[in-house]
Amino acid sequence: MLILGIETSCDETAAAIVSDGRRILSNIVASQFDLHAEYGGVVPEIASRAHAERIRPIIDAALSHAGISYADLHAVAVGHRPGLIGSLLVGLAAAKALAWSLSVPLVGVDHLHAHLYAAAMGDGSDDAPTIAARYPALGLVVSGGHTAIYHCITPTHTHRLGGTIDDAIGEAFDKVATILGLPHPGGPAIDTLAAEPDADDHAFDFPVSRLQRESLDLSYSGLKTAVLYAVRGNPRPRELGGGFDRDHADLSHARKRDLAASFQRAACRAIIIKLERAIDHLAPHDNQADTTRNVRSLLVGGGVSANSRLRREITALGRARGINVHMPPMPLCVDNAAMIAALAHHQLAAHGPSDLSLAAVPTTGA
Ligand code: KG4
Ligand code: ZN
Repeated sequence: MLILGIETSCDETAAAIVSDGRRILSNIVASQFDLHAEYGGVVPEIASRAHAERIRPIIDAALSHAGISYADLHAVAVGHRPGLIGSLLVGLAAAKALAWSLSVPLVGVDHLHAHLYAAAMGDGSDDAPTIAARYPALGLVVSGGHTAIYHCITPTHTHRLGGTIDDAIGEAFDKVATILGLPHPGGPAIDTLAAEPDADDHAFDFPVSRLQRESLDLSYSGLKTAVLYAVRGNPRPRELGGGFDRDHADLSHARKRDLAASFQRAACRAIIIKLERAIDHLAPHDNQADTTRNVRSLLVGGGVSANSRLRREITALGRARGINVHMPPMPLCVDNAAMIAALAHHQLAAHGPSDLSLAAVPTTGA
């Protein structure tokens, strides 16, 4: 079964063709990075306009790279939540028009569930029983827009256990990079600086958010503010005109490197603490030592899973708890439409098609 996937939830216009939920025939992504760079963040109006201009050529490219035509499609899948509403609407309108005109099913896919499935399908060459053997799983999505933890019973049956109550982890990396005067994208720049041999990740004792004892939620705004004050000093009182006495231009390279390493340690530690809590929380009550009955694997997705420290710590956690860790190759970690088309295959089988009245939803679902 050949499914066209469409993804336009943020600043990537993407289309892909996937066969039977696992074989990727094409995976085309047009980034809008250059359009938003001068503004230091994604401008929603510019993003939706660029999606509208690019969606048709990107879909055509996905079909031609796969060597198929519109008539060969069995379904059209689209990421319809969560995301920027204007951006989501462009992909959704294109998907509905195609599904209706080709008389094939429309499948609305949750973008975050698709990130988790991308981890389960690996490089797209695994066979179905292997994918099934990875569930039930603990899921982690870490990206520029999202930070969330899930219990995945099957690819199409997930429960959200917790997530950030303010900034996403990738947003924190990007903002801290700006505070340190590092080039964009900020995440890789911090990763590289923190990996320098002399970096001291204990030079600054930045706060690791834990929230309430049982909480599986995360918070990154306090950490970001702590780095801001470490770099610029405390803000001047308003009566004295506000502002700061220093900025990143006053930092030595060694201090910048230690700030980056200390921030990264705190940011990753918060994730590991919550994953450990989630594994404990999901352990069967009749046998607390047997964590693997409810969590056979750990599925990780989103751009921040490229972070070398986070990868190392998650791998170590998996080894310590006897849980297999799956992190997809980078093209499937970042926003893409192959994950949308692949998950849609299972969704169609489990729940049937979506209605043509399917809505674009900006918020995170279950
Ligand atoms: O999933 P993604 O490509 O896009 C969206 O969020 O939509 O994630 C991008 C995020 C950015 O915040 C970027 O700084 C971060 O992933 N990122 C990293 C690394 N590579 C990318 N963060 C930390 N370390 C990295 N090596
Ligand atoms: Zn994403």
